[in-house]
Amino acid sequence: MNDFRIKTDVLVIGSGIAGSMAALTLADAGVDVTLLSAGEDLFACNTELAQGGIVFHSPEDDPVKLEHDILTAGWKQNYRRAVCYLAHKGPEVLQKTLIDAYKVPFAHRAAADWYFTREGGHGIARILYAKDHTGLTIMQQLAEAVSKRPNIRVLTNRTAIDLLTTHHHASHLDFKYNLMDQCVGAYVFNEPLNQVEIILADFTVLATGGAGRIYLNSTNSNHAIGAGLSMASRAGAKLYNLEYVQFHPTTFYQGAKRFERRFLISEAVRGEGGKLINGTGEAFMTRYDQRADLAPRDIVTRAIMAEMLRTGDDCVYLDTTHGMRNEVAERFPTIYGKCLEYGIDMRTTPIPVVPAAHFFCGGVLVDTRGRTTLERLYAAGEVSCTGVHGANRLASTSLLEGMLWGYSAGQDIAKRLGKKWKLTKKLMDNIPEWQNPGDIQNEDPALIAQDWATIRHTMWNYVGIIRSTARLRRAFEDLRTLSKNMHDFYRQTPISKPIIDLFHGCQTAYVVTQAAMRNKQSLGCHYRVD
Ligand code: SIN
Repeated sequence: MNDFRIKTDVLVIGSGIAGSMAALTLADAGVDVTLLSAGEDLFACNTELAQGGIVFHSPEDDPVKLEHDILTAGWKQNYRRAVCYLAHKGPEVLQKTLIDAYKVPFAHRAAADWYFTREGGHGIARILYAKDHTGLTIMQQLAEAVSKRPNIRVLTNRTAIDLLTTHHHASHLDFKYNLMDQCVGAYVFNEPLNQVEIILADFTVLATGGAGRIYLNSTNSNHAIGAGLSMASRAGAKLYNLEYVQFHPTTFYQGAKRFERRFLISEAVRGEGGKLINGTGEAFMTRYDQRADLAPRDIVTRAIMAEMLRTGDDCVYLDTTHGMRNEVAERFPTIYGKCLEYGIDMRTTPIPVVPAAHFFCGGVLVDTRGRTTLERLYAAGEVSCTGVHGANRLASTSLLEGMLWGYSAGQDIAKRLGKKWKLTKKLMDNIPEWQNPGDIQNEDPALIAQDWATIRHTMWNYVGIIRSTARLRRAFEDLRTLSKNMHDFYRQTPISKPIIDLFHGCQTAYVVTQAAMRNKQSLGCHYRVD
């Protein structure tokens, strides 16, 4: 295996809304960017799967009302400065970028006369949408814009292995003794060539998305395995709020289908009048919260779990057969089509639903410019912790957050780039080639599948919707043993994508579990029964 070096001004790892926005903002400022995707194209991300919409401002809205709803959903564990930044600056940047520059066709009556929808926890309708495929529509426009920028080099089928830092990788003692650790790029696996590339960058932006796929049941894309969290934790960047894993209340219940992505039934369906009912047809949510079906997600999720426990049923149902029945096919074509594939006509039959892991409220700690605690490293989107979400995220704020922090990171880097921040030749020459661990060919898909099964069951059963000291301790011990066994077993195995992913997933599960053990307060998405 030969090593290969690339030098770029900025390396963006991840191609969803945050990564693409960072790359476009930098490219428009004349900066050369290398944008990595783990898949075949830019669509290998959670953004593509987002159904509901993106928070904007409707005529009767104002930033203070939005701040209030975000803080209430987040149990006031939010960072107020970040919330204020999102509420004031978010809609302005959305207008300038997604609407004016990238022409995303959000639903509208006439030019700039938008339709707004509502979701759980929102006091008013303020969410822009494109039917029930808002994320896909945004990604189509962003991908087209990226393809027109000659200064964005897109590298697909690339999996980042580790961030390069001066403390960990530079061999010269001058860099080791310097108090300031700096990120200078990443080791990246080029899957088609089976080769590790060294990508050196003046600045690096982590935009790898979330980690829902470390859970047995999740709405997330296959790529959401916590790659960025795992690399940032090894590099020594500060991670925060990892215990706040949001479970979406309504995903299609397919029985015991294992390890497949759970199909999301957007909260906008409830926003437009859908009602949760139990097996006897009772609309049970009013028994749990006066906001009923539009209570924040953590509350609705726990109400569904309590109702399933009470009735002994495997799921509850989302009823769209009254009131909205004539509009569902037109308003929610993706959901309608998928339900039909599964044999449910949502115009006449309630949809069976269960909760599944959906969104990481915590992540790599960043300020409002997207800077992390590691010099030259930025983070944006779900991999980051901006403080906006606190202990539980308000619906449809994640696309806005990814867009705003991708844009802000791009702006901040473009301002800083210059002679002072150029990597020196001495530093670049100091970054060693990737050392292949060895050539013992013991990679076995059955073993990898079993290790993933252990991670996913452990997280779902012990670090899931309802947690306890005993469950968390058990998860911690099992994951520590698994991690040790994996390190022993793969010590001399040639690197491959399945092995990189497995190590990222295992490390992420471990740090999430540690965070959950440390936080004794039961709040929001971190619900402890003891
Ligand atoms: C949904 O459509 O319910 C998901 C949107 C979100 O996670 O904010």
